[in-house]
Amino acid sequence: MHKNLENSSADLQRRDSKHIWHPFSSLVPAMPVLPVVKGEGVWLYTEDGRKILDGVSSWWVNLHGHANQHIAQAIAKQAQTLEHVIFAGFTHPGAIQLAERLLPLLTGQQELLFFSDNGSTAVEVALKMSLQYWYNHQKPRYKIIALEGAYHGDTFGAMSVGERGGFNMPFEEHLFEVAFVPFPEKEKESDTINAFRKILEKEAVAAFIFEPLVQGSAGMRMYAPEVLDTLIKLAHAAGVLCIADEVMTGFGRTGELFACNYLQEAPDLVCLSKGITGGFMPLGVTACTEAVASAFRQADPAKTFYHGHSYTANPLACAAALASLDLLLAEPCKAQLQMIGGQHLLFMEKIGQHAAVKEVRSRGTILAIELKTAEGTSYHNTRRNELYQYFLDRNILLRPLGNVLYLMPPYVISREELQGVYAAVEGLLDSWAEN
Ligand SMILES: Cc1ncc(COP(=O)(O)O)c(C=O)c1O
Repeated sequence: MHKNLENSSADLQRRDSKHIWHPFSSLVPAMPVLPVVKGEGVWLYTEDGRKILDGVSSWWVNLHGHANQHIAQAIAKQAQTLEHVIFAGFTHPGAIQLAERLLPLLTGQQELLFFSDNGSTAVEVALKMSLQYWYNHQKPRYKIIALEGAYHGDTFGAMSVGERGGFNMPFEEHLFEVAFVPFPEKEKESDTINAFRKILEKEAVAAFIFEPLVQGSAGMRMYAPEVLDTLIKLAHAAGVLCIADEVMTGFGRTGELFACNYLQEAPDLVCLSKGITGGFMPLGVTACTEAVASAFRQADPAKTFYHGHSYTANPLACAAALASLDLLLAEPCKAQLQMIGGQHLLFMEKIGQHAAVKEVRSRGTILAIELKTAEGTSYHNTRRNELYQYFLDRNILLRPLGNVLYLMPPYVISREELQGVYAAVEGLLDSWAEN
């Protein structure tokens, strides 16, 4: 028996700091981690009795609130029937149902689903499938195009197609070469399109990967569907496979079920994770068209896609995803998406001209407020911790991306709870000094 069973907040923090290495966190911690013992709806309950509003859906995964009963019960039921089974040579009803229900919701002709465990692996699968597609066709193409400022995850392939510098600096030598085109800023879209065209003229491009309409980690940077449609059209004309990374934007975040619903063109591959299980279980999927899959329908063993993870299509995760889908497609959730989107737009109008605001933008349930600072906009803006603490002191969890504050709440947030967050944001704006 472990000798320390006290479990007070201070005790948990002490033991945590001794043995646990947290993601995206310095080992010289400026701020202690908060022990959470319960979640309910939009609220997180800490060991020492605080109730904190989860304004970022716990890293963008939670859709229907914490400890949602419908999903919890589906997982519990599944756990008593089949917890896991190897997914090579075997299958199970949950995975089949999920594929049957999810694929028709995606735009384009998505016909096959490949399972993995998280957003980064969903991206790795898409990149590897795209490269092997060309290999299998015996017309090898190696180049991938991505947008500047992109974030697609933390594995090596995903890092390679993401913005260089910062997080990736220690690994730079090992990242494969990628052609980056400028982010399609408003009224500068032609720069992106021209750069894209030039690459297509010069090189044999295998794939184009993008976060549709919203670059999350880059600071909730938003761009227009029209320019993305143009890029996809150009890519398709050159035979290039288009990969929509909907890991963040999927499952209602942008107001539509998927960000690609705003497009006329359709991707060939779609990466999904985060909200797929409503935030209960780790799961990633990569959907592809039959045209992509057909390159792998060959008897030659060298043409097989040799990729897999131990927990591929875990039945508990599939049960959670099916239950989350029930809720997502039901009327109350649709009404909530409308309500949140509408409230964000009203608040955006209210604070748009505030002296502390450089820009405010919104799409669906995502609201981002870029604050004016002397340092300028950057993920590494030194005032980020001050902002984080300001809201935490008011029992609201927001994780600013540098000087960009954003709100991405679980869909069950009430109008009153939203107003509470807006009031705190206004308080911050009124007290904000640029220096
Ligand atoms: C667009 C996008 N792709 C991929 C990922 C990586 O997902 P994961 O953290 O589950 O590996 C993220 C994570 O934030 C993301 O925003």
